[in-house]
Amino acid sequence: MQTPYAAVAAEHEHPYGVMQMVFAAHPTAVGCSRTFARYAAGRCWGREHLLDDLEVLVSELVTNAVKATAASRAPGLSKVAVRFLLLPSSLVTQVWDPVPAQPVVQPLDPAADGGRGLHIVDALASRWGAFPATGGGKVVWCETPTIHIGPLEAP
Ligand SMILES: Nc1ncnc2c1ncn2[C@@H]1O[C@H](COP(=O)(O)OP(=O)(O)OP(=O)(O)O)[C@@H](O)[C@H]1O
Ligand SMILES: [Mg+2]
Repeated sequence: MQTPYAAVAAEHEHPYGVMQMVFAAHPTAVGCSRTFARYAAGRCWGREHLLDDLEVLVSELVTNAVKATAASRAPGLSKVAVRFLLLPSSLVTQVWDPVPAQPVVQPLDPAADGGRGLHIVDALASRWGAFPATGGGKVVWCETPTIHIGPLEAP
């Protein structure tokens, strides 16, 4: 289930760290964004344990962004942008594309060719959603928890 951006906007505005890259809206952006995820979350922020899930998440979101951009037939070179935010207890992935239409979760159908990507995002991310971007297009985002601590127990 999507989380409204209003519920997380304040958290996203005060990250410990931000890394962003812009790619041509081409299928090669998917592999590039995985490499970028390993660099940002792994090498720079030391969150190697998140990389398996993070690479799947960024792949699904960037694949959708590239497909939607191609389907919109915008003239000229289109771009997609990938941003990672390091928050106190989570890592947020944001993917911008120039298409205003928001993602629509499809009913799960084992016989269908597609419609699985957002279900995978929903399963792997603690929260996800989409919002219109200032200046056009939209951002699809998802959140991966970085720490899990229970309440303080009797020592
Ligand atoms: N960035 C996006 N921009 C516009 N529409 C999107 C975007 N991402 C997803 N959608 C819409 O939501 C639908 C569901 O996305 P989802 O990733 O679940 O399935 P899919 O991309 O069609 O197939 P699969 O991911 O299984 O290959 C897409 O078919 C598309 O219509
Ligand atoms: Mg998809």
